[in-house]
Amino acid sequence: MREKSIELLNRALAEELSAVHQYMYFHFHLDDQGYFPLAGLMKQTSIQEMRHTEELAERILFLGGEVEMAVSDPVQKIHDAKGMLERAKAMEVASAEFYNQAAQECAKNADAASKKIFEELVADEEGHADTFDQQITYIERFGERFLALQSIQSDTEE
Ligand SMILES: [Fe+2]
Ligand SMILES: [Fe+2]
Repeated sequence: MREKSIELLNRALAEELSAVHQYMYFHFHLDDQGYFPLAGLMKQTSIQEMRHTEELAERILFLGGEVEMAVSDPVQKIHDAKGMLERAKAMEVASAEFYNQAAQECAKNADAASKKIFEELVADEEGHADTFDQQITYIERFGERFLALQSIQSDTEE
């Protein structure tokens, strides 16, 4: 039971670390392009993924495992906002799918605490996917002008 859970938790940790890196990369480029609200969203989401790594690591250590700190995917060097959002959404959907399976496996192995962690992660990642999807819809509807307008508006609100 322990070994299987530790393996699943480490795989999840690798996905989370990849998301931390990828979203910070997007943040740097969006900030550079002047798309500040979207840049902020990427940074915020990256920080949430970092919190996920912490929950996973704590559980791995509790079970007596080693925290591997591997990454599941290299950072993709995407520079256009819509491409970034599509990549981010795909990562969230894939993670949610894997966490759902992992929760089921943990239930089978009578590891309720790990199952609960995976279930909470599913809810968070589905929320992230939804947020990214909303931004994609705005860009499709209004073009990248939407991002520029969003930036100008946030500027005048400050
Ligand atoms: Fe996450
Ligand atoms: Fe996420």
